[in-house]
Amino acid sequence: MNLSFKKYWCSLVIISVFPVLVTVMLLLNTTDQTQTLLVTFGRSGSSFTSDVIAQNKEVFYTFEPLSFLAREKEVLRVPEHFQTIDLEDFSRRVIESYLLCTFDFDTFTSLDNIHLRLSNSTKDLYECFQAEKIGMDHLECYFKFLQECKSRRMTFAKTIRFPVKWAQDLMMRHPKLKLIYLVRDPRATLNSQAKVFKEFTFPSNVTSVSANHCRQLGQDLKQLAHLRDTFPGRVKVFRYENGARDPTGFAAEIYDYLALPITEELTDFVTYLTSPFPHNATDPKCKNNTEFTTNTTNKTDRIKQDTDLDLDMKKQDTSLKSNEATQSVNGKTDMTELKYKGQCPFSTHRDDPVKAMEHWRHEIGFEVARVIDSHCGHLYQQLGYRAASTKEDLENTADISLVDVPQVEGII
Ligand SMILES: *[C@@H]1O[C@H](CO)[C@@H](O)[C@H](O)[C@H]1NC(C)=O
Ligand SMILES: *[C@@H]1O[C@H](CO)[C@@H](O)[C@H](O)[C@H]1NC(C)=O
Ligand SMILES: *[C@@H]1O[C@H](CO)[C@@H](O)[C@H](O)[C@H]1NC(C)=O
Ligand SMILES: *[C@@H]1O[C@H](CO)[C@@H](O)[C@H](O)[C@H]1NC(C)=O
Ligand SMILES: *[C@@H]1O[C@H](CO)[C@@H](O)[C@H](O)[C@H]1NC(C)=O
Ligand SMILES: *[C@@H]1O[C@H](CO)[C@@H](O)[C@H](O)[C@H]1NC(C)=O
Repeated sequence: MNLSFKKYWCSLVIISVFPVLVTVMLLLNTTDQTQTLLVTFGRSGSSFTSDVIAQNKEVFYTFEPLSFLAREKEVLRVPEHFQTIDLEDFSRRVIESYLLCTFDFDTFTSLDNIHLRLSNSTKDLYECFQAEKIGMDHLECYFKFLQECKSRRMTFAKTIRFPVKWAQDLMMRHPKLKLIYLVRDPRATLNSQAKVFKEFTFPSNVTSVSANHCRQLGQDLKQLAHLRDTFPGRVKVFRYENGARDPTGFAAEIYDYLALPITEELTDFVTYLTSPFPHNATDPKCKNNTEFTTNTTNKTDRIKQDTDLDLDMKKQDTSLKSNEATQSVNGKTDMTELKYKGQCPFSTHRDDPVKAMEHWRHEIGFEVARVIDSHCGHLYQQLGYRAASTKEDLENTADISLVDVPQVEGII
């Protein structure tokens, strides 16, 4: 496959017209465009939240612009002078490029990202770059992409692997940038990460993983309080559990914060995402999913999907690799994962979001939950979570809620 040659050639063409491009971009600069950045940890319900935001047609949505930094093969695409020096600076510049619809020599490489196919805003560019076309056609797609991006009222990027501290500089330089931080019960997030990302396992890794996670979460919360005071009205923390318990109220609160209109279409869309399908309906997102045969009409199978409200990048990576996975030594794990994921990895639909939200309580085990509590418990009051004192309390989802009212005047 001469894909890399093609890309190289395409880059050359882009580079040669770069000065022209900058001029064009400056001329096109629409000053009333606003930007939104959603920062979270993997498996925190951010795909659902982002789908809700992207429902508004005036929003230009980029899904995980930094995901290529996590995959070994693609790290090679990070410009050499960033590979060892400054991940923070490079990550920030990539985010900034998507938010401002303006790419430079370095950040242009980030457009080669498989996750771009997962947002309607970026999918055309992804498909165009994949197609066997000549550089000139790629260039045309690229300009169309920039133009489309520029034409929307708001640009929106959702990312993980981005400590809140890194956002300060962006907030300072872009007065129309608003930050959303999405938080979820660390026990649920880590349980889901263990299951889906498979970068660590419980119980063997629980101590180090939860200590790291909640150190980062604690730092993020401190930074958020600082940013909120520095940039009033431009920083807001949302809690996943509120989204599961009251999806339309949650959507309305986000739209209110972002000054987007709350329409009937939005309410319908949110209701659709969070209610059971009619018995004979199929998720339209899944209908044409040829990479992954769907069978969503089968109710029994669909229940398996209900285990998490979020759907994240690893999940999608795995679906892409599913052909490899069936043959590889690791095939067994991967196939189990595919099965667990249900038939449609691109769906953020859940029949019963509250059940999905609490599913971790039946899976995690009391000992693991206790270890996480010992590393994260100091944050629970602020965020409105409760430790479970016994195994029975942990698993008794019918009578005992581990979701509480967050601290008054706190971060949420
Ligand atoms: C996706 O974008 C296309 C145009 O690029 C538009 O026609 C279509 O309605 C969009 N779909 C959704 C679900 O927003
Ligand atoms: C998880 O634990 C195993 C065994 O103790 C160890 O080899 C591995 O490096 C740990 N992984 C992480 C991500 O901490
Ligand atoms: C689903 O069933 C209802 C009646 O139960 C029918 O009106 C509708 O057309 C069906 N939809 C599809 C997609 O088959
Ligand atoms: C789904 O696939 C059919 C047949 O391949 C095609 O005609 C149709 O446009 C596709 N729909 C979407 C939403 O991509
Ligand atoms: C759905 O499942 C049924 C029964 O398992 C099978 O016959 C059918 O081909 C499947 N449909 C698709 C689209 O894979
Ligand atoms: C639906 O799934 C269940 C359990 O996997 C299976 O027994 C049943 O035959 C499936 N029905 C169809 C129509 O595929």
